[in-house]
Formats: sequence, C-alpha cells, structure tokens
Amino acid sequence: MANKLSLNNDYPVIDESLKLLNRAEGLIPSYTQTLAKGPSQYVRGVCPVYLVKGKGSHVWDADGNEYIDYGMGIGPLVLGYCFSEVDEAVRKQLDEGITFSLMHPLEVEVSGMIRDNIPNAECVRFSKTGADVTSAAVRLARAYTGKNKILCCGYHGWHDWYISVTTRNKGVPLNVADLTYTFQYNDIDSLKNSLDDDVACIILEPVTFYEPEYNFLHTIREICDKNNIVLIFDEMWTGFRINPGGAQKYFGVNADLACFSKAVANGMPLSVLTGRKEIMQLLDEDVFFYTTFGGDALSLAAAKATIKCINEKGVTDYLSTTGFELKEGLNELLRELDIDYIRCEGYGFRTTLSFSHPNIDSLLIKSLLQQELIKRGILWNGFHNISYSHTQSDIDYTLEAYEHSLKIINKAVGEADLQKYLRGEPVKPVFRKSSDFNTKPRKVV
Ligand SMILES: Cc1ncc(COP(=O)(O)O)c(C=O)c1O
Repeated sequence: MANKLSLNNDYPVIDESLKLLNRAEGLIPSYTQTLAKGPSQYVRGVCPVYLVKGKGSHVWDADGNEYIDYGMGIGPLVLGYCFSEVDEAVRKQLDEGITFSLMHPLEVEVSGMIRDNIPNAECVRFSKTGADVTSAAVRLARAYTGKNKILCCGYHGWHDWYISVTTRNKGVPLNVADLTYTFQYNDIDSLKNSLDDDVACIILEPVTFYEPEYNFLHTIREICDKNNIVLIFDEMWTGFRINPGGAQKYFGVNADLACFSKAVANGMPLSVLTGRKEIMQLLDEDVFFYTTFGGDALSLAAAKATIKCINEKGVTDYLSTTGFELKEGLNELLRELDIDYIRCEGYGFRTTLSFSHPNIDSLLIKSLLQQELIKRGILWNGFHNISYSHTQSDIDYTLEAYEHSLKIINKAVGEADLQKYLRGEPVKPVFRKSSDFNTKPRKVV
C-alpha cells in the first residue's frame, strides 16, 4: 500500500523507484541531469528516486507514495505544481504552437513585464538555463571592460569559467581556470585581496541564507564603480521570490547585469538576462549569444502568467511569512528539545538547516533526519523552498513531522551511533570541498 500523509507511516515502499534506478545504471552517467535531484542527495534504499505527479505543494512518487515537497523542482515551482493560471496559459499556447520560425510577440511582451519589475532591466534577453545567462553576463563583462578575470562567490552553473574553481574541474583548461577567483560572502577583505587591474566582473548571489552585513552589497557596488568592474547579480534564487523586483529592489542596490531563471516561469525552462543598455547593447553585434530555444513561446506564456500572479497575488509576501513561520516554529522546537547542533536559517522564501555537532558528521545527521521525514511524508533535502501553494496545514503538519523525527535524531546522537538507525546509504556532498575554493593567489604547484 502506498503511503498517504501520516505521522504513523511505515517507511515507503519504493520498488518502482528502485527498478527504474537499476535500469538507469550504466545508461545515464550519475543517473541524473540535475545533481540536486539525483540519488546521491537522498538516502539510498529508503527515499523515493522518481516522482511522477505534483499538485500544489504535494508530490507522488513512482510507487504512489504522497509527500509534501520542499524541493519544488529545485526552485522553479514558486506558485506550486499544476498551478491553474500558468497551466491554462501553457495549454492555450500549446494549441497555437510551441516554437516558430520567426520571433513570437511574447518575447516583446514578457520583456516589457520584466523591465517593469526589475530595477536594472533597461534591456532583456531570454535563454533556457541559469548557466546560459551567467555565462553570457561574464562574456559581456569581459567585452565591455576589455579585461579578463572573474571574481565569484557561490554556485553559478556548469560552464568552464565557474566550475574551474571547484573540485569537479576535470576537463577545464588551466588557462581558463586561472582567470576565475573566489571571495567569501560578507568578507569584503577577501574580495579586496583578490582585486587587480584585470578584473572584469564580480558575480555573486546577492544573498543566500545570511543577511548582508556591514553594507556588503553597497560596498561592492562602490568598488565596481571605482574600478570599472561590471557587477553581476546571480538572482537565480532571489529573483521573483525575495520581492517581485528581486534582490535589487529588496536591498536597494542595482547590478549592471542580473541573471534570473527558476521561479520566472513556474517550472517551464526559461532564463533571463537583464542589464544596463550600455552593456547589453554589445549583444547587437560584438558579443554572440543566441540559441535555438531562447524564445520558445510555451515558456514565455508560462512566464507571462507567472509574473502576473506574482505581481497581483502578493506571492512574495506570502513566501516570506509562511517560510518565516516554518523557520521560527522549527527553531522553537529545536530549543524545546535542547538540540543546539541544528538550526534553521535563511529568509522566509528559502531556508536551510545547518548542522554543527562537534563529533558527528553533519551528513549523517542530515541523512537520518531525511530518512525519518520521508517516513512521515516530507520530501526534504536540507532546504525549504516555500511556494505559494504551501498551506498553513502543510506547515503545521511539517512541524509535527519534525518533532517526531528530531526526537529520533536526539536519541541517536545521544547514543553517538547514527548508523544503527540509518537504513540506507547516507547522502553525499556535491563537491568534495564546500568552501575556501581557490581564492587568489592560486598556489602554483
Ligand atoms: C545560484 C545559481 N546560479 C546558477 C545556477 C545554474 O542554473 P542552471 O542549473 O539552470 O544552469 C544555479 C542552479 O541551481 C544556481 O542555484
């Protein structure tokens, strides 16, 4: 029998998931197209591997088990699964055609809507993935400044210029890697120490989970202005979530270029590059950035409906208050249970759990918590990506599920034996190292 939402479930039966995973073995390298969805991020043998249906904030796996989802497609589903206004717009467009041999009027219409929402959007271009637009932004910055180096902070996609700074950088030529350096968020000295005359751009997520301190964003803006450096905000997560105008509007700092994807089309694949005309107009001639599916009408129809909902329904306020309630409720619970090695952090629209036990591996604690939440019908991978479809009863239920699960964590940690409770393989880190990537100067070996 498939699990429904209940605190008294057995662990879900996931036979169909496991059969599919077996078929993928050796056929799909790493099994997945999106690392955060793949089996390395979920306790192997316990958690479902394939989802087949979603409605609102709930999803069903290949075996029919139901969960409240906190991944939301790794970000895109800001309104929720099968959100009627967006789905109707997509269906209507589907009757007319998906993509055409000339441009579609929606390209103009949605560009105008984005210009009205996003502070720096004097010009707008579309593409498909987040990495498309972060890479286009970097290329534009180099073309505009005539300089080469990139300073970055956080994750920006799979392309050479970024992935060179991580531990999964095989295949990237060294002379490309030698042009990208990292700095630490909220550490202005780490950024200043990496500056030289050849820096073309600074790219960062304006915020992840921790608030900018000491005027961090404004100071970076000043540094860029002073040194002819292009400031790029990677708004993949903040865009259409923290505020309808994104982080630029929320923090009152404009970037020269900004990159969006995920939430803009509630699940349809679309990314957006916005920026100052003086820089963006290089795309007219000198800088090449074109792709077959860039202006597909289905995604643009979805974006039009999504942005309209975000503007008219108070979506970003809802994400903020609902997410905050979950965060505060969870932190209160952790205090009541005397658990000081777990904390829920972040802005309402997206919170995360941090683990800091002095003697126990964080990934083990995370794995056991994930396993116990799965048993109770919560699909969770460390984050709460709140959508407009997460209801008060979802939040109340989730807090109850956390209470039951955290009691088990507390017991296992007390016995210093998490393996005893873990029924499958623990989750793995995405990168072998998760901080202090190659800050400048790189050690020459
Ligand atoms: C902050 C940030 N930038 C860029 C990307 C890359 O986007 P994509 O995977 O669509 O290429 C991601 C993906 O998760 C992201 O979180």
